[in-house]
Amino acid sequence: MKKIILLIAIYLVSNAINAQQKKIWDETKEEKTERLAWWTNDRFGMFIHWGSYSLAGRHEWVKKYEGIDDVDYKKYFDNFNPDLYNPREWAKLAKAAGMKYAVITTKHHEGFTLFDSDFTEYNVTNTPYGRDALKEWVNAFREEGLKIGFYYSLIDWHHPEYTIDRVHPLKPKNKEDYKALNKERDMSVYREYLMNQVTEILTNYGKVDMLWLDYSFPNGDDGKGREDWGSIELIKKVRKLQPEIIVNDRLDLKEYWGGWDFTTPEQFKVKEWPTYDGEKIPWETCQTFSGSWGYYRDELKWKDNKQLLVLLIESVSKGGNLLLNVGPTGRGTIDYRAENALSEIGDWMRFNNRAIYGCTQAPEAFEVPDNSLLTYNPETNRLYIHLLDYPLQNFTLKGMKGKIKYTQFLHDASEIKISNPVGHWIKEEVGEGDVNLVLPVTKPPVEVPVIEVFLK
Ligand code: GLC
Repeated sequence: MKKIILLIAIYLVSNAINAQQKKIWDETKEEKTERLAWWTNDRFGMFIHWGSYSLAGRHEWVKKYEGIDDVDYKKYFDNFNPDLYNPREWAKLAKAAGMKYAVITTKHHEGFTLFDSDFTEYNVTNTPYGRDALKEWVNAFREEGLKIGFYYSLIDWHHPEYTIDRVHPLKPKNKEDYKALNKERDMSVYREYLMNQVTEILTNYGKVDMLWLDYSFPNGDDGKGREDWGSIELIKKVRKLQPEIIVNDRLDLKEYWGGWDFTTPEQFKVKEWPTYDGEKIPWETCQTFSGSWGYYRDELKWKDNKQLLVLLIESVSKGGNLLLNVGPTGRGTIDYRAENALSEIGDWMRFNNRAIYGCTQAPEAFEVPDNSLLTYNPETNRLYIHLLDYPLQNFTLKGMKGKIKYTQFLHDASEIKISNPVGHWIKEEVGEGDVNLVLPVTKPPVEVPVIEVFLK
């Protein structure tokens, strides 16, 4: 018996030590929720992928996909001169679409920085453009009232000390060749560079609301993870420089408290609210309009307005955010197709944003009616029913009898009556405990109409 107690005690103590070791940031769960509150409220942000690859106009991975060497690739740097760049226009577009924050690529995998850096010549001030494009961006977005975030690529295809790995453009055909290729490369020099540049962007631009580090691929000898980046030191520095910043989860520090703030499902829809260790966690899906993040002139797989709205609504209905990407052109303008898409989203958001901001997954007690999605605002106690496929007049809410004060369309605040089902001959009875809404036959001129339910 004594032995068992001793074993249990050892187990508990070692667990406690372990938990301690895995804690990077001294913050309670409640404090974290509080720190993330603006972001979980705002729900919708703009991702911006802009770099020297924008001149190629065929994906931000063009260097890798086409195996372009540094010498050849330099033409995009030498010609980087976005004469029409006006970040205030970008900010206005984002705002009109209902976006509340934006995250821009300060450096993507190609290694080119949109900011002035003391640690590389390969920065925007040495292009024909000649100015710190990031500074202008920060000022414009701040002035328009948007929160600002920096994407920074951990991966670097330009830095001479960055060791060749499986995603690098110089990846060898045979695994045995890595050694020879990396003989002259010293990753610790790059690690320091990474720390220096992250320090620069978190020091020279005032308050930064979000940091998006991208990305780790730790499995195998040709991958990279926390040891390669010096992730623990890096995140500690980040938290020190910007204690309120919200950081994504790509540093390979998943099991560390404080190593990340939210998870980032990319280019797919989650089935349900993501969890870690059995608990629901903050999440944000990042999505493109058309597949590529950087400007891609000839790409044809564009999502339509309804798909984009459903992406947003569905994310909120599962407790998450949407970060929707634009890839500005080499001249510094937003692709006309993206501009159109944003303006259509804005048409919907103007009248329906109450079903997005401050909303989250509806309590499980509410059954999701057919062909719809639910969002819920816990503050106002209102339920939003997003009608993905507009019904014919009768719309039954199961188990809602006695729970509703009032119902209306959100876009025009016109009452929706609770009444017996309309129709003749044989018709479905509304069940005991259910409520029937009578909708107008004509679908309102709204891509996805929303019913606002004031709950008791
Ligand atoms: C991926 C890609 C990258 C893109 C990012 C956005 O990790 O490497 O091109 O910036 O996803 O989430």
